[in-house]
Amino acid sequence: EDVPKFITPLLVPPVMPRAGTIHQQGGKPVDYYEISVRQFEQQILPVTMPATTVWGYGAVSSQGKKGLLLHNAPSLTIESKWGRPVRVKWINDLVDGDGDALPHLLPVDPTLHWANPPGGTAGRDTRPTFASTPGRYTGPVPLVTHLHGAVGVGDESDGYPEAWFLPAAGDIPAGYATEGTWYDFFAGKAADGFGATWGPGFAVFQYPNDQRESTLWYHDHALGMTRLNVYAGPAGFFLVRGGPEGEKAIVDSRDGSTAMLPSPAPMEGDKFPPNKTYYEIPIVIQDRSFNVDGSLFYPDTREFFDDVVADYIPDGEFSPIWQPEFFGNMIMVNGNTWPFHGVEQRRYRLRMLNGCQSRFLILDFGEIPGVEVWQIGNEGGFLDAPVNLTADHGNRLLMGLAERADLIVDFTNVPTGPYLLKNVGPDEPFGGGEPDADFDVADPDTTGKVMVFLVRAATGADPSTPAQYLVLPPVTHLPAETGMRQLALIEESAVGEDSEGTPVEGPVAALLGDVASGVWTKRLWADPVTENPALGETEVWEFVNTTADAHPMHVHEVAFEVVNREGLVLDNSGEVAQPVQPDGSVRPPEPWETGFKDTVIAYPGEVTRVRAQFDRPGQFVWHCHIVEHEDNEMMRPYRIGPAQP
Ligand code: C2O
Ligand code: CU
Repeated sequence: EDVPKFITPLLVPPVMPRAGTIHQQGGKPVDYYEISVRQFEQQILPVTMPATTVWGYGAVSSQGKKGLLLHNAPSLTIESKWGRPVRVKWINDLVDGDGDALPHLLPVDPTLHWANPPGGTAGRDTRPTFASTPGRYTGPVPLVTHLHGAVGVGDESDGYPEAWFLPAAGDIPAGYATEGTWYDFFAGKAADGFGATWGPGFAVFQYPNDQRESTLWYHDHALGMTRLNVYAGPAGFFLVRGGPEGEKAIVDSRDGSTAMLPSPAPMEGDKFPPNKTYYEIPIVIQDRSFNVDGSLFYPDTREFFDDVVADYIPDGEFSPIWQPEFFGNMIMVNGNTWPFHGVEQRRYRLRMLNGCQSRFLILDFGEIPGVEVWQIGNEGGFLDAPVNLTADHGNRLLMGLAERADLIVDFTNVPTGPYLLKNVGPDEPFGGGEPDADFDVADPDTTGKVMVFLVRAATGADPSTPAQYLVLPPVTHLPAETGMRQLALIEESAVGEDSEGTPVEGPVAALLGDVASGVWTKRLWADPVTENPALGETEVWEFVNTTADAHPMHVHEVAFEVVNREGLVLDNSGEVAQPVQPDGSVRPPEPWETGFKDTVIAYPGEVTRVRAQFDRPGQFVWHCHIVEHEDNEMMRPYRIGPAQP
C-alpha cells in the first residue's frame, strides 16, 4: 500500500509519428495519422511494484522508429501546424490475441445513457424495469475520439458521443462495428473537401487547425462511458503552433524584437528515451487508485460513494455502479505516480492539464524557494498579458477539470536540490474559495503531493525572454452578442435506503437545463435540442449554477471569452433550486481567464457568463467536465444553424 514516491523520472511524451501527408485536390496538404487504441501493460507504479493493464492511443504506422514508444498512456503528442489540417484514422483495436473483442477493464453501469452496442444491456432510454441489480456490461467497448479545444471542426469529425464504434473483432457480427445512431446523420457530409468515414473498427476525422495557437488534448468521448474509458488511459496532447496569434508574434518589450519562449519541445523523430534536454514540456496530472495487483481500481458499487443501497427498485433513482464523483488516492503525472524531473536553474515552459476525474487542483509552488511562476496561456492560446502567479496569486494555480495553463516556470534563482510541487485543492468536490478557510486541503502525504523538481546548475546560458518582458500577441475579440441564453446546472437528489433500511438522501444525477417561460426546466441528453444558435451569431451563455459545487463547463466547437460572474439569489424551496435574480455583485474574469477558453469554472450560487461566436453549422455538445457528471446527464446536444431535419 505504501507506494514509494519521486523515484520514477517524469515521462516527456514523445511526438506521434505521422503516417504520411495527403495532398487534397486543389486544397492544402494534410498531415495524416493512423492511431489505434490498444490494451497493454504499463509501469505506472514504481518498478518495484506490479505493472498496470491500461489502454492508450498509439501510432499504427510501420514507420515507428526502433525503441520509440508507440502506445502509451498518456499518448504521444500530436504536433500540428496552424493552417495545416490534420486527418486521423482513429482505430478501435480493443481486441485480444485471437482477434475477439476485449471487455472493459472497469465496471460499466448499463443504466446510464450510454453507448449501447447491439447485444448489450439496454440503456436508460429503453431499460424495461429497475427490477433487480443488473450486472455490469461486459461486451465490446465502444470508442469515439474528441479533440478537446478544436475550433471550427465539422460535426462529423467532432467525436459526437453517440458516433462511437466497436472494434472489428471476430466475435462481433459483421456490420455491428460501424452501427450507431448517428452515422446516417453524419454520413455523406463533406466540408473542405472532406467527409468523415466509418468502417469496421475505425473512423476517419479531420481537424482544420485554423484556430489560435494553443494546447489541445484528445480523449475518448463515448456516451455514458467517458469516465471509464479515459480512466483506462486514452488521452494525449495535441499542440497547434503558428498563426497570427502564435508564439512568433510575441514581442520582447525591451527592444521590440521577437521574444523567445523556452524550447525545444520534443519533435517527431526524436530518440526515445530522449538524448536531448527539453525546456518545453506538457504535463498532465490525473488521479488514480490501484488494486494491490497493480490493476486500476474504480468503484463497482454506488455504496462506495454513500450509504444508498442502489438496488433497482421500480421508480428507483439510483444507478447501481455510477459514482456522483470519484477521487483517486494517488497522483499520476504523465503516466507515472509521483515522478521527479531534473531541471536546470533556468526557465521552463510547462503546459499543464488537469486530466483528473472530479478533482480540482490547486497547484502550489510555494515550497520551491526563489521560483517565479508566470501564466502566459490557457485553453484558447495566449492571455492578454502574462500573469505573475508568484507575486500576485500566492504561487498557486487553480485548475478545473480539462483546463490548461501555459506556464513559464523560472528556476534561475532556486538553490540546487529537490523541491516538491504540492496540490492544496480538496479531496472532495470544490466549491470555490481558499484552502484551509473554505475546504480541507488534499491529504499532505498523498494527493497533496504532485511531483518533485530536482534543481541543478544550468548547463549553458538561457536564451529565453524573462516572462515580465513578454508582450503577448494581440487578441482579436468577438463582436458584441446578438443573443443570450440562460442555462442551469442542476443536481437532482432522491431518498433511498441504507442496508439497514434507514432512509438516506443521495445525488441521482447532475443535470443541465434551460429557461422555459421563466421557469428552470431540466433537460436530459435524449430530449430534443434546445440550444440552437443561428449560423454566425454571437451569443452570451449564462451558466446558472444552482448546485452546491463548482462545475467546469465545456462547450465544443468554439473558443469563448469569459464575460463575468455574478452572485445569485436562489429559492431552495422546490425540488430544484430556482434562481430568483442575480444579486448585482458582478466580477470580471480572472487575469488567467483572458483571451479565449473552452472550459470555465462555474461556481455554486453564481452565474458565469461566456461569449461565443458560432460559425460552423452542425450538431455538437456542451457539458460539465467532471467526467462522472457528463456521463450521467450533465451533457446536452446543441446545434448551430438550421434546426435538426
Ligand atoms: Cu474534454 Cu466534451 O470533452
Ligand atoms: Cu458537474
